[in-house]
Amino acid sequence: MNIQLGNVGNRGDILKHAALIQLAEVLRQRVGPESVYIETHAYLLYSFIVDARDWKHQSLRLTQTWCGYHAYIERETKWVERGRYRCSAGLALDVLSPDLAFLAEIDLQTRRQLKRQLREAGFSNRVMVTESTDRLPAVIGKRECNGFLMLVDPFENPRECWPTVSCIAQAIEHAELMGAIEVFAYADKAFDWPSPPAGFKGPIATVDQYPFQLAVYATALFEKPAQELLGDLGWICSIE
Ligand SMILES: C[S@@+](CC[C@H](N)C(=O)[O-])C[C@H]1O[C@@H](n2cnc3c(N)ncnc32)[C@H](O)[C@@H]1O
Repeated sequence: MNIQLGNVGNRGDILKHAALIQLAEVLRQRVGPESVYIETHAYLLYSFIVDARDWKHQSLRLTQTWCGYHAYIERETKWVERGRYRCSAGLALDVLSPDLAFLAEIDLQTRRQLKRQLREAGFSNRVMVTESTDRLPAVIGKRECNGFLMLVDPFENPRECWPTVSCIAQAIEHAELMGAIEVFAYADKAFDWPSPPAGFKGPIATVDQYPFQLAVYATALFEKPAQELLGDLGWICSIE
């Protein structure tokens, strides 16, 4: 069984997914569907929520402190009320609606379910699913796109897949690109974030709510809009 099943909808998910949909929304407004979405550790479009009361409690606490959580909570509430949880890939595809997306998922059962969900939602013709993060660079190849969003979300240490992340970013990056890479790390002490891939700056913003930690890297064109929305979610933005 995929261990993610027991974690769905926790505080780490709320922090990660609220930022993801806001980044996707700004990218949609500025670039539109000519964007590429990539997820290195995908899981599913939706799953069952483990503890809906805890999700509501954590979400409410964040909303009371930061003004940026409303869009995420409004969107996710519709799923939670049905005992489900819209996961990262589902949220990003719903909001950004990119022309092309690549999702990597290593677990066979999960991958089959993900493909079924993609078919049911009508996403199959523009979403490619690969069996592991390592396969992504070969499948993606060199891509021309104007908008780019990537989520890097292993269970623990994102440094292990950073060479792959850098390779993908290098194949996509160009001077006019509006793009962001959101990275999740699970650790009890401050995570030492890796250097940005070529063409990206950062981390341009981070949030630490141990053990849940997140960072965002962005291209020069996307740095300011990303920092603005992440500030509204309580992230710390770095000023150069
Ligand atoms: C933390 S979960 C992803 C959660 C999802 N991104 C979300 O926020 O809703 C990590 C997923 O990555 C998958 N995974 C682990 N190692 C992988 C690898 N090397 N390549 C692709 N997927 C992997 C696991 O099976 C699991 O489904």
